[in-house]
Amino acid sequence: MDDALAGTRVLIAGGEPDAAQALGARLAAGAAQVTVAPDAEAAAQAALAGRPDVIVALGAADRELRELLDPLDLRSGPPLFAAADLDPGVDDEHAAALRLRSLLDRAALERRARDLESALAAQTVGRRRDLESVRIEMLRRLALAAEYRDDNTREHTERVAALAARLAQRLGVSELAITHIRHAAPLHDVGKIAIPDSILLKPGRLSAAEFEVVKTHAEAGARVLAEADSELLEVAENIARSHHERWDGTGYPDGLSGADIPLVGRLVHLADVFDILVHERPYKEAFSVEDAAQEIQGGAGTQFDPEVAEAFADLGPRVWLSAPGVYGG
Ligand SMILES: [Fe+2]
Ligand SMILES: [Fe+2]
Repeated sequence: MDDALAGTRVLIAGGEPDAAQALGARLAAGAAQVTVAPDAEAAAQAALAGRPDVIVALGAADRELRELLDPLDLRSGPPLFAAADLDPGVDDEHAAALRLRSLLDRAALERRARDLESALAAQTVGRRRDLESVRIEMLRRLALAAEYRDDNTREHTERVAALAARLAQRLGVSELAITHIRHAAPLHDVGKIAIPDSILLKPGRLSAAEFEVVKTHAEAGARVLAEADSELLEVAENIARSHHERWDGTGYPDGLSGADIPLVGRLVHLADVFDILVHERPYKEAFSVEDAAQEIQGGAGTQFDPEVAEAFADLGPRVWLSAPGVYGG
């Protein structure tokens, strides 16, 4: 945890000298290499020379820097954050370093996603079917990239997608929607790319501050998939954003309840929870299939959409466990 920013060159720009020093000390506690530029102008010069990995601006320096730098420099140069963005509202001495790590990972992911998007946009317009298969391939690779971050979810994403699709089928959803769910659901945790390894792979219990960071994966995933001109990606965005919402409104990130939660989110939520229950995780043993099924029924109407829970019961153990290359092996 102490090295969330190991080797990261952080430039602190502007602000009162005391405030800049205090922030520098907190980031240095996360093993960052901190330098301080007294004002926006000095910071802009350092940014153009490519020295820092990231700039954190205090007070008015944020606006001044954005005015000084070209939009192009802001796109390709070191990411620039306002110091206020580093306050996750949790009282923890490492919170600012963790938050900066998470912002940096997210910025890198967004940059990659932008590159992928422009690669997609470069495809010839009019070759719609080609484009759709490129999208599916892109989603598959993005899901793979996310899986590599998280040892214990290898194949998890595929199993969740298979079960969510069977639930959708049971509820009489259209063939096209089922296909979308099948291809989009493996991306439900893609936002975990933005979560630091020190938290994602931590063997023990997470602190409240760490859990707050984990929760950001729902919004981070949705942002990566947002605003694409494709129904498939729209479904993927909806799933990424809403797969931790609970029927009774106590989930995250939006606290939606009941039918306000997109159906795809309700389906993936149940499939995700079931799959996690029947598999071992660093923090828990695997449940038996019977115990897991009982847990799901116990949450019908509070955690889960009662109709989705009923569809799950109707499918029965043979279908729950029928996802490719999965259980009992
Ligand atoms: Fe998730
Ligand atoms: Fe999951």
